[in-house]
Amino acid sequence: MSIVYLNGEYLPISEAKVSVEDRGFLFADAIYESTPVYRGRAFLLDRHLRRLSNGLAALRIDYGLEGLAAVHERLIEENVPVDTPLAFVYVQVTRGVAPRGHAFPSQPVTPTVYAFAGMVDKPGQARWDEGFEAITVPDRRWARVDVKTTALTANVMAQQAAVEAGATDVVMVRDGMVTEGSHNNIFAVIDGSVVTAPETNYILHGITREYVIELAEELGYAVHQRPISVEDLRAADEVFYTGTTTEVRPTVRIDNQPIGDGKPGAVARALQALYLRRAQGNVSA
Ligand code: PDD
Repeated sequence: MSIVYLNGEYLPISEAKVSVEDRGFLFADAIYESTPVYRGRAFLLDRHLRRLSNGLAALRIDYGLEGLAAVHERLIEENVPVDTPLAFVYVQVTRGVAPRGHAFPSQPVTPTVYAFAGMVDKPGQARWDEGFEAITVPDRRWARVDVKTTALTANVMAQQAAVEAGATDVVMVRDGMVTEGSHNNIFAVIDGSVVTAPETNYILHGITREYVIELAEELGYAVHQRPISVEDLRAADEVFYTGTTTEVRPTVRIDNQPIGDGKPGAVARALQALYLRRAQGNVSA
């Protein structure tokens, strides 16, 4: 049974209990983070913790992250065999427990901190080589999705629509422009350049996105962060997703129409290879 972290203690998951008055439960008044694990170590943890810290500041939740790197190490040690192809550590910090009321509790409360390590059912190389399908869905989320709150209802509904359509991913569309997937960011290859939506309040500023941009530049590709219309995405030579649990994932059909030649493209292949090499070397940057 997995060992999880809750408010300073490590305990079997069946013994981890949170109050029904927790504001994470009642209001999704909480920030979370998911960090990938390769070779028994969290990858790009500093960047993930920086984003968590920014999210807590945005929600004005006062919680210091000093102990969290050690929590990651311990959860990995307890739960993740070192040869696991891809795992992740999830951390959630809620505002804490208080009688229900929309505004912040008038008395000081202690944040609730929960963390666990989970396995990712990573597709094998043969599956990756076939490429993946996506569907377009309206982006019905609020206007601060750059803050990684646990309020993910619209993402849940979107991902369920993909599953019911037999697809792997969604392309969320706001005002005719591509934002991101339900749990990953979207890239396209257009006229030889690598293109992805800019870091506005309408996308999560993905850590894998940021890292893959650096890798693409290292490989000599021109990278442009600019708005992408759905029409441009459909006409792109390549489309791929990035994310902690996604790595680099090529999309070969959107709404049942082929992208490019209908096979994973050279840019996605080169980026996935370099990303995996760095992740498995686990050279944090
Ligand atoms: N999701 N966009 C959204 C909406 C996300 O939820 C995520 C991450 C990303 C990719 O961010 P990163 O590269 O930092 O993982 C983009 C995580 C994996 C999750 O929900 O568990």
